[in-house]
Amino acid sequence: MFSFFNKTSPPIFEGLCDIHNHLLPGIDDGCKEVQDSHRMLEAYKELGFVQVIPTPHVYSELYPNTPQSVKSSFDVLQDSMGSENIQVKRYAAEYMVDEQFMADFEQRSPELLLPNNICLVEIHFFGNTQILEQAGFQLLQQGIKPLLAHPERYHGINDLKKFSELKGRGFKLQLNALSLLGHYGDDVKQKAFKIMDLGLYDYLGTDAHRPGHLHLLKEIRLNKKQLLSWEEIRERQIADFR
Ligand SMILES: [Fe+2]
Repeated sequence: MFSFFNKTSPPIFEGLCDIHNHLLPGIDDGCKEVQDSHRMLEAYKELGFVQVIPTPHVYSELYPNTPQSVKSSFDVLQDSMGSENIQVKRYAAEYMVDEQFMADFEQRSPELLLPNNICLVEIHFFGNTQILEQAGFQLLQQGIKPLLAHPERYHGINDLKKFSELKGRGFKLQLNALSLLGHYGDDVKQKAFKIMDLGLYDYLGTDAHRPGHLHLLKEIRLNKKQLLSWEEIRERQIADFR
C-alpha cells in the first residue's frame, strides 16, 4: 500500500474531539485509576486531539452504569485536572442495545448523549440488527439520533448494504480508528476500508480503553484516496463537535 506519510506521526487527528472512548476511571473496562486517564490525555494531546467526550459503557450485564455513576467518575477526573490544554467538559455513554436497554427505554429515554442529541449505541458482536432498528426508531421518535459505534466490528452484519439501509433509517455510523490497523483482525480492517470507500462513515472515534490504544494510532497509514475519505469525516466531526 502506498504510504502517504513517512516517518513522522500523521496529523490526521488534528483538531478533533474524540466521541468514543473509555477515559473515565473505574466504571467500565477502560481506565482503572485516574492516573491512567491522565496518561490517556497526554497521548490525546500528542495525537492532536483538542477535546475528549468520555463514553463509558452502559451495559446492564457487565457495566450497569447510571447517569449518577458516570457523573461521579467524571467529577473525580475533573477534580484532578489542572490547566491541561485538552478539554473534557462533558460526558456521554456507549449504550448496549439489548432487552434491558429497550425495557429501560419504556421508562425513560437515554440521558447520556453526545452533543446534537446523538446517542452512541452498540449491539452484541454476533447480534443481528432487528433490535437495533427497533431502538433507532424509538430514539428518532424522541428526537434522538442513533450513532452506531464501530459497524465494521459486527460479525453478524456482513452485507454492506445493511449499513446503507441503517443510514436510510436515520442511523449515523462511527468508525473505530483502531480498526484500520488490524487491531481487531484483518477481516475487520478490510471491512472498515470498504465502508470508508463507500463513504458511509459519518464520524470516527478511538474507542481507546487505555493509553496504549492511543499510542498505536500513530501507526495509521492511508493512501491518497483513503486520506480524502478520512479528511471528509474529520472535517464533519470538527464542525459538529466543538
Ligand atoms: Fe467503546
